Amino acid sequence: MHTATEERLIQPARNIFGSLRLPGDKSISHRYGMLAAFARGVSRFQNFSTGADCASTLACMTQLGARVNRLEDGTVEIVGIGGQVHAPDAPLDCGNSGSTMRMLSGLLAAQHGQFTLIGDASLSRRPMERIRKPLEAMGASIALTEGHAPLTLRGGALRAIDFTTPIPSAQVKTCILLAGLQTAGMTTVREAIRTRDHSELALRAFGASVERSLDQGMNAVSISGSQLLNAIDATVPGDISSAAFFLCAAALFPGSQLLIDGLGLNPTRATLLDALTAFGAQIAVLHLEEKNSELVGTVQITAPTEGIGATEISGALAAQLIDELPVLAAIAPYSRGGIRIRDAKELRVKESDRIALTVANLRAMGAEVTEHEDGMDVPGGQSLHGAIIEAGGDHRIAMAFSVAALRASGDTLIRGAESAAISFPEFFQMLDFIAER
Ligand code: S3P
Repeated sequence: MHTATEERLIQPARNIFGSLRLPGDKSISHRYGMLAAFARGVSRFQNFSTGADCASTLACMTQLGARVNRLEDGTVEIVGIGGQVHAPDAPLDCGNSGSTMRMLSGLLAAQHGQFTLIGDASLSRRPMERIRKPLEAMGASIALTEGHAPLTLRGGALRAIDFTTPIPSAQVKTCILLAGLQTAGMTTVREAIRTRDHSELALRAFGASVERSLDQGMNAVSISGSQLLNAIDATVPGDISSAAFFLCAAALFPGSQLLIDGLGLNPTRATLLDALTAFGAQIAVLHLEEKNSELVGTVQITAPTEGIGATEISGALAAQLIDELPVLAAIAPYSRGGIRIRDAKELRVKESDRIALTVANLRAMGAEVTEHEDGMDVPGGQSLHGAIIEAGGDHRIAMAFSVAALRASGDTLIRGAESAAISFPEFFQMLDFIAER
């Protein structure tokens, strides 16, 4: 099969200037979409993610009996199945989306029947053992293909568990909570590093009760079974992981001015703002409100006249910034002191090996960089040149290097630019809108 790949030429910019509102957060849209489809009643969402990943979630939920209507004004209307999935007539195709595959496995593990989940080449390489263990401890049976998808799951009545996640993963946590939602007794997930909590907040918004506690330094989330979810109406906050590309672009240009409103600022995701501040950017949160327990606000960024400084990201920070590390690394050569990234081994099992690809593409642009098994060192004070960038089918690599290209000498060609549409189809258009040339 031939897959068309798109190339994008990115020209250097003089400055970043403007104000934006971004499409809905991918993580929240997956959860709202999946829960609405499973709930009783009709949910309506404004600003639902436009990315292909969330479309994969909705397509799977449609195969399981939900109805999805896209209204003319952009509203996504979902008619839920009331807690009982229909037997799908074909394998459930999760596309490129790890969130879809891992979260849906939890939801289906407690449903009677056999389900096969498949994905594209990238998703079929990603580790699924991490969900097999807890779901089998609950009583489901899962057959993997050498630890990966295709995955065949036999679900049914489960038993509640108390599970400590060996690696920080919101997808694994959600997988267990969605199984626990349908299982008699109390299911608890404990994590040493607190991961994004959109599932806990979304479950509550749909009417489930979820308890959280801090127990001997571990973050514990508990859910009891047999709770019915009820439809909601909500506006999805703008995606801060998409905003990251533009915030990092603005950080590159002394004198830049960028304002983003309607932006999701959930504290488990807004670590990016702390990281950029530590890097030397000036960030102001001008307005903050709460919607369905998610914080939403307006963020303004300016870069200091002397340029951004130096920073280190390791430990819990690395886990919390995992999706933003490629773009932080991509702007680091232009900083004064560079970046040191450690404890980010998970980057190697994302949509691509993001450590290897970030390092290779930085080198293609003429940067000096040292690769480590769990991170990299990118010295500051470097000048990069335009180059041919291989996105490797990874949306965040395509976007991160489009940002690095803004300060390079000469033009940069992004190969595989179409992958940006996995999370952010509007990326190139919005980048052109704020880049002054
Ligand atoms: C996500 C969790 C993270 C993140 C991914 C989205 C989520 O993955 O990298 O982009 O929506 O729960 P892990 O759970 O594998 O850490």
